[in-house]
Amino acid sequence: MQLLPSLLILVPLCGGQEWEAPEYCRGSPCPQFTVVNKTTDFEERLYVATAWITTKIPNPTAFDLIAASARLKSVAGHFDAWPVLINVTNDKEYVLSWFVPPDMNIPEITDPSPVQLENRPEVNVYVRVFRGTPSIDQGKLNANELCKSLRKAGKTFSTERYAGAAYESYFALTHHNEVWIDKTQ
Ligand SMILES: *[C@@H]1O[C@H](CO)[C@@H](O)[C@H](O)[C@H]1NC(C)=O
Ligand SMILES: *[C@@H]1O[C@H](CO)[C@@H](O)[C@H](O)[C@H]1NC(C)=O
Repeated sequence: MQLLPSLLILVPLCGGQEWEAPEYCRGSPCPQFTVVNKTTDFEERLYVATAWITTKIPNPTAFDLIAASARLKSVAGHFDAWPVLINVTNDKEYVLSWFVPPDMNIPEITDPSPVQLENRPEVNVYVRVFRGTPSIDQGKLNANELCKSLRKAGKTFSTERYAGAAYESYFALTHHNEVWIDKTQ
């Protein structure tokens, strides 16, 4: 009979289908995904539909990046969620995005605004992880490596766009970064 109380406690814990965020989210909200496939070079993830606030980065300079972050902050305030995403299209258009957790309400954005709320549908992405202080150059280098691995594996993927994802402040001592490339049919 001693067992009974602990069984009763265990049942609700194991019964739920609660998603467990990866350790590199460090307890902060981050987008939910499942790993579809994994090789030594990359993994394929299926992300649920997500919301982001986004703004353009006119030039890939530290100055423009800081200004873009300030624009997002002026709309959404400071909140705790990761990753910060830099979406690069055709090697020349840069967009900064912050993940908006499902339970967070962003104040209404009045048009026209340089900041947009973007709802992204469910998406399959190929992911490569890299370490060290994140930068535009490191993002590009790793996107190229991911591209090569995907080609070698015979995958079909977007060749015009990739995204770099950072999960901690630029000044953190250790970094978990990722590059994402959309899977195509
Ligand atoms: C990159 O930006 C495009 C255009 O805004 C968007 O459709 C796409 O979902 C973004 N991709 C990633 C991986 O963030
Ligand atoms: C997983 O990736 C491997 C290597 O590219 C491939 O052979 C296999 O078909 C993939 N499996 C799925 C379920 O996509």
